[in-house]
Amino acid sequence: MREAAPQTVYLRDYTPPPYLVDHVTLEVALHPTATRVRSTIRFRRNPATGPGHPLRLDGEELTLIAAQVDGVDINAEPDDLGLSIPSHLLPDTPFVWEAEVEINPQANTTLDGLYMSNGMYSTQCEAEGFRKITFYPDRPDVMAPFKVRVTSDLPVMLSNGNPVASGPGWAEWEDPHPKPSYLFALVAGDLQPTRDTFSTMEGRHVDLGIWVRAGDSDKTAYAMDALKRSMLWDEAVYGRAYDLDVFNIVAVDDFNMGAMENKGLNIFNSRCVLASPATATDADYASIERIIAHEYFHNWTGNRITCRDWFQLSLKEGLTVFRDQQFMGDMRSHAVKRIGDVLSLRARQFREDAGPLAHAVRPEAYAEINNFYTATIYEKGAEVIRMLRLLVGPDAYAAALDLYFSRHDGQACTIDDWLSVFSDATGRDLSQFKRWYGQAGTPHISVTEDWVPGADAAAPGGVTITDTTTSNAEAPAGMGGTYTLTLRQDTPATPGQPLKEPLVIPVALGLIGPDGTDLLPTVVLELTGPEQVFRFGNLPARPVPSILRDFSAPVILSRDTTDAERALLLAHDTDPVTRWEAGRDLARAGLERMILNGAGPDAGYIDALGKMLRDATLDPAFRALTLGLPSQDDMAQGLFTAGHTPDPDAIHRATQGLRRAIATVLHDDLAQVYDGMSTPGAYDPGAVPAGKRALRLGALAHLTRLDDGARARALFTSADNMTEAMGAWTALLTVGLGVEETQRFYTRWQAERLVIDKWFAAQVACAAPDRAVAVATDLSQHADFNWKNPNRFRAVFGALSGNAAGFHQASGAGYALLADWLIQLDAANPQTAARMSSAFETWRRYDPARRAAMTAALERMLAHPGLSRDMTEMVSRMRG
Ligand code: PHE
Ligand code: ZN
Repeated sequence: MREAAPQTVYLRDYTPPPYLVDHVTLEVALHPTATRVRSTIRFRRNPATGPGHPLRLDGEELTLIAAQVDGVDINAEPDDLGLSIPSHLLPDTPFVWEAEVEINPQANTTLDGLYMSNGMYSTQCEAEGFRKITFYPDRPDVMAPFKVRVTSDLPVMLSNGNPVASGPGWAEWEDPHPKPSYLFALVAGDLQPTRDTFSTMEGRHVDLGIWVRAGDSDKTAYAMDALKRSMLWDEAVYGRAYDLDVFNIVAVDDFNMGAMENKGLNIFNSRCVLASPATATDADYASIERIIAHEYFHNWTGNRITCRDWFQLSLKEGLTVFRDQQFMGDMRSHAVKRIGDVLSLRARQFREDAGPLAHAVRPEAYAEINNFYTATIYEKGAEVIRMLRLLVGPDAYAAALDLYFSRHDGQACTIDDWLSVFSDATGRDLSQFKRWYGQAGTPHISVTEDWVPGADAAAPGGVTITDTTTSNAEAPAGMGGTYTLTLRQDTPATPGQPLKEPLVIPVALGLIGPDGTDLLPTVVLELTGPEQVFRFGNLPARPVPSILRDFSAPVILSRDTTDAERALLLAHDTDPVTRWEAGRDLARAGLERMILNGAGPDAGYIDALGKMLRDATLDPAFRALTLGLPSQDDMAQGLFTAGHTPDPDAIHRATQGLRRAIATVLHDDLAQVYDGMSTPGAYDPGAVPAGKRALRLGALAHLTRLDDGARARALFTSADNMTEAMGAWTALLTVGLGVEETQRFYTRWQAERLVIDKWFAAQVACAAPDRAVAVATDLSQHADFNWKNPNRFRAVFGALSGNAAGFHQASGAGYALLADWLIQLDAANPQTAARMSSAFETWRRYDPARRAAMTAALERMLAHPGLSRDMTEMVSRMRG
């Protein structure tokens, strides 16, 4: 294992590679403990960097057997991180480097590089795993075509590109598209294919394959369907066609992340590809559809155009997330998708941006790049592109993307390149907009307003709008009233960035009349200064503003709003996102009063909720979303931002109290929804029936508080799909019932590892606060608990840190248990341990006792001898 030697890498130190690669040939003789890799690499000096540079090859955990330059043995002496050949030992003309190394895939528990999982070989090279396979300039700005020959006694051997030839015990693959080493992949195993074909708009015939372990072939149909839809969509919407003769996907059980976009050979965590009605929930289906699309879309945004260096990670990830969001909106519902994205942005990215791990979308320094595959790089990166599209408009966005693909195809690019494409295509100066990439932290926008009634009724011709910051002009004297909106932006300090500059913030706004009619359809205000005044003249009545429609910018909005205004927006806003938000604000305000002042549940909120529930004109999926309460972590963050010290137990009690009140007051409506939203017939994972199930199960969760679990037990028994079985079982668990169902669930699904992950996770996630640590401890001793499998580890300990009141038990037992297990996991798998350590990033929010317990856990982890570079960086950043 790597010793902790946190060497910081800085963006400002970037220099181009002194040697370029024209071609790579790999011969990989697979063996569980002694795999041999022979590499033949054609190098040439980079004319752009001048002479004299040594050839630096990265290499970790490799045993070098022999090396030659142009056929002559060379005495290379690797250190822990690689080897260097002095310039004077290398010709000025192109030369061939050959090396043979030995590696031990079986001993590789990091799931990075070449490793074994359930009898199969698999690789993971992003970001820096290729250096554990052979000596190489393992950086994304070195791109080369690859040829690979694999030998093994396993029946299936796959690599990137097109198959060239194969025979008993060997297979050859060739990838003609120059690629960085992080996109290299190799898989071998006893795998079963699901095959299909796709014809591209350019007339290319593509063989599609999804390769899984025997017994999983009945769970590939949905992923295949999603893949074909993704291919079609990228042609139709972005004009991008696939560029190889085969596209393969492999499912792997042991995987640190969701999936990986290796050229022509995507490798997936099995949980992100395998689905059958009996074993996967609606949410699993949606997540599979999204991730299949995401990895496929990377073929252009990531692979054909890649990143110059890892500081540019959001160039491919932000853009590809934005593309997968667009795709999902087109496939399902834009409103429901957007609300879901807002929820997860707030839960993960706002939380990150508000704490010690805050960093810019384009960071400037890192110790371990694997720690930067974050919600900020991915989701905030996508938000920045969404804002750019809103500001320039969809047509200019499309033109800019065409220019991006034609100008940069085959290159390793920067975020500056990306922005230059936009300013060249649109003529727009993006220098201020660029701050979104460099400045961390979530901007706060505060809103103040003013109203001057008019002397006369509004004149025909509609509302007049003046941005008084830029024009200084008074609102045209006319008839009707004048409404003034003052927007102020402030971004709080983040680690290393005490002072913040104003950003370009598109604020989509509509104005609604007191009777609920639209006075002003959506306009996009551009906030560029610290404070700006917008004046709306000729209004018939004082409007209620609907601000941040479609969540037009990733900001925190604050405005003194009355509950009456919120109720009006909830009933009448034509924008589904701000409409939903109004309900959420009502719920939040009511919960805050319960938590801080001991108030009772807010009758007005429950009444408004009832109206939504009964409104059959609304999409059931949207109604299901309005039925959801803010999460307890979200409440804690909100209270902290408002200057309070959140008490996790009080938040839990208030949430429970509100749920009980909703169930009691709306019982009849909920029962009607439950009966009316059943989806008879064969299970269909489509968005419409899934929306009905979501609403129905939302209602069930409430009803289960009142009917002793009768409905949930009946549904659990009769369900023919995992969505309803899980919904029913977790409804029982949440109210302390379901002991027998827990046993039945296990007996029934024992052989399905992905379902058993759910079995582990739900018990911890739904446990009462004072039980969560004990439940997690017990489950960690269960015979099926395999801590080396990231899905299983996350099922128990990800669920523990997600159980807010359980994790934050005043005793500190939750912190201690997680720290123990992270220390243990770190020794085998630093990447997953480090990712999960962010459970501690919120320690500053809490009271002195909890802070002390959380920082003690951080100190204990940091002091652990041999802690990985990954964990050392994360824990030191969190401790601050
Ligand atoms: N690049 C992958 C994706 O976003 C994520 C990933 C990163 C997977 C690092 C593995 C390792 O699709
Ligand atoms: Zn990605």
